[in-house]
Amino acid sequence: MQEPVAAAIGAGLDISQPCGTMVIDIGGGTTDIAVMSLGGIITSRSIRLGGDAMDRAIIDHIRHEHHLLIGQSNAEIIKKEVGTALVSDDNQDVDVHIKGRHLRTGMPSEIIIGPADIARALRVPLETIADEVRKTLEELPPEIAADIVDEGIYLTGGGALLDKIDVVLADKTGVQFNIPSDPLRCVVLGAGLALENIEQVGNLLVDIQ
Ligand SMILES: Nc1ncnc2c1ncn2[C@@H]1O[C@H](COP(=O)(O)OP(=O)(O)O)[C@@H](O)[C@H]1O
Ligand SMILES: [Mg+2]
Repeated sequence: MQEPVAAAIGAGLDISQPCGTMVIDIGGGTTDIAVMSLGGIITSRSIRLGGDAMDRAIIDHIRHEHHLLIGQSNAEIIKKEVGTALVSDDNQDVDVHIKGRHLRTGMPSEIIIGPADIARALRVPLETIADEVRKTLEELPPEIAADIVDEGIYLTGGGALLDKIDVVLADKTGVQFNIPSDPLRCVVLGAGLALENIEQVGNLLVDIQ
C-alpha cells in the first residue's frame, strides 16, 4: 500500500468520497504525493528528496557560509530542535550553537547562527517539493484540483514536523496546508486500520509481485 494512502486513512480522512484529497508524506529518503478520490488513487508521484536531503542542505550551507564541517546526525538534531522553514517573531531571537570542525584549521570549533540561516539552507529542498505539488495540481482534472484548493493539502511524515513548513509550502503553492495531530504515526495507524478493513480498501493496495 502506498504511504500517502495509509497516511490519509491514518489521518482520519474519508477518501471514499467523490471529491479529491491530496496527501504529501515527507519521509527520510522520499516525498510521496498522492491524490485520491472515490477510494482510489488518481495520481501519485515520489521524489527522492525528504528529511535526509534537508539535513544535507544544512550541512552544505554551514560548510559554505561558515566554513564548519558537521555530520549528518548533528544536522538532523539542529533541524529537529531549532530548524525552521521561516523566520518569524517567535523564533527570530533563538541562538543556534553548532559544534564541528573548522575547514581551514581542522580544529574543533563552535559557531552561533540564527534560524534565518537554517531557513535559507532549507529553501531549495522546500522549493523542489512545492514544484512537484504545482506539477501534480496542473495535471489533475480541474474539478479535482478545485476540491484540493478548497480543502487544503494534508501533510504527513516526519518532515511535516519541521517548524512552519506548512506556512512556506502554502506560500509557494497558493494552497493551504493541513497537518494532522500526529503526522509521524499516520502511516502506521492507517496501515493498521486498512488491515482491519481489508475488504473495503482492497482496491487501494498495490500489487507488489
Ligand atoms: N521535528 C522535526 N522537524 C523536522 N524534521 C523532522 C522532525 N522529526 C522528524 N523529522 C524528519 O523526518 C524524517 C523521518 O520521517 P518518517 O516519516 O519517519 O520517515 P520514513 O517514513 O522515511 O521512515 C527524518 O528525516 C527526520 O529527520
Ligand atoms: Mg514514512
